[in-house]
Amino acid sequence: MSCKIILKSLNVLLLIHFILPDQNVTKLFNEFKLKYKRFYYGAKHEKNAFNNFVNNFNNLNDFIAKQPNQSVVYKLNKYADQDPEEVDEYYGIKIKPYSEVPKNATARTDSDDLPFLEDMHLYNLNEVNNLYQKWMKSMGKPNYTKKLEREVHYYRFVKTVVEINRQKAEGKKVELDGTADIVQHPDDYFYG
Ligand SMILES: *[C@@H]1O[C@H](CO)[C@@H](O)[C@H](O)[C@H]1NC(C)=O
Ligand SMILES: *[C@@H]1O[C@H](CO)[C@@H](O)[C@H](O)[C@H]1NC(C)=O
Ligand SMILES: *[C@@H]1O[C@H](CO)[C@@H](O)[C@H](O)[C@H]1NC(C)=O
Ligand SMILES: *[C@@H]1O[C@H](CO)[C@@H](O)[C@H](O)[C@H]1NC(C)=O
Repeated sequence: MSCKIILKSLNVLLLIHFILPDQNVTKLFNEFKLKYKRFYYGAKHEKNAFNNFVNNFNNLNDFIAKQPNQSVVYKLNKYADQDPEEVDEYYGIKIKPYSEVPKNATARTDSDDLPFLEDMHLYNLNEVNNLYQKWMKSMGKPNYTKKLEREVHYYRFVKTVVEINRQKAEGKKVELDGTADIVQHPDDYFYG
């Protein structure tokens, strides 16, 4: 993992906060919301976010306990209120709810500069079938008549959507274009 950017000392206070044992996690969650200006639409979403935060906090503490390293510390980042498994299932991208920071840095990692998930405009993979139909229509694509042909193109499309999500998560400006379901190489439609 890269630790490029060196800025601000406020975050050092926060991260030292995070790794002390016996923390009041409700208080930490409030600080997290304040720091990242998180607003939730309704108590249910907030509760879900809080539960994710608690899980990520506990997982991070376990991780730290197993990997004592005098020269680095870890802090929860702006993905701390997300469930990484859910994010992977929905969008096919991997997020880490924590970042590694050199202990003597005056500083922080670049994680604060990552976009929020909702600002990435990712495609929800659970709705990819609808997306494909809409895309076919908007691109004026004819229906494929053979079943195998249809499936090959569909899988290629799904794979493209996953790739686009990954690129968006890396901050690239990419969109689905007319080639999204075009198989360019043999086996290109295999998902993986
Ligand atoms: C934890 O923090 C919350 C919010 O600041 C507070 O309401 C609660 O009483 C605290 N709990 C403990 C055990 O200190
Ligand atoms: C501790 O972390 C630093 C920075 O990532 C790394 O260079 C070093 O090898 C680590 N030490 C151990 C014992 O894992
Ligand atoms: C932190 O410590 C490492 C090695 O211990 C050193 O190379 C680096 O320059 C230090 N960074 C700062 C900001 O002091
Ligand atoms: C393709 O098939 C779908 C579902 O069978 C149908 O609703 C749609 O009108 C067809 N589109 C074209 C261009 O034939």
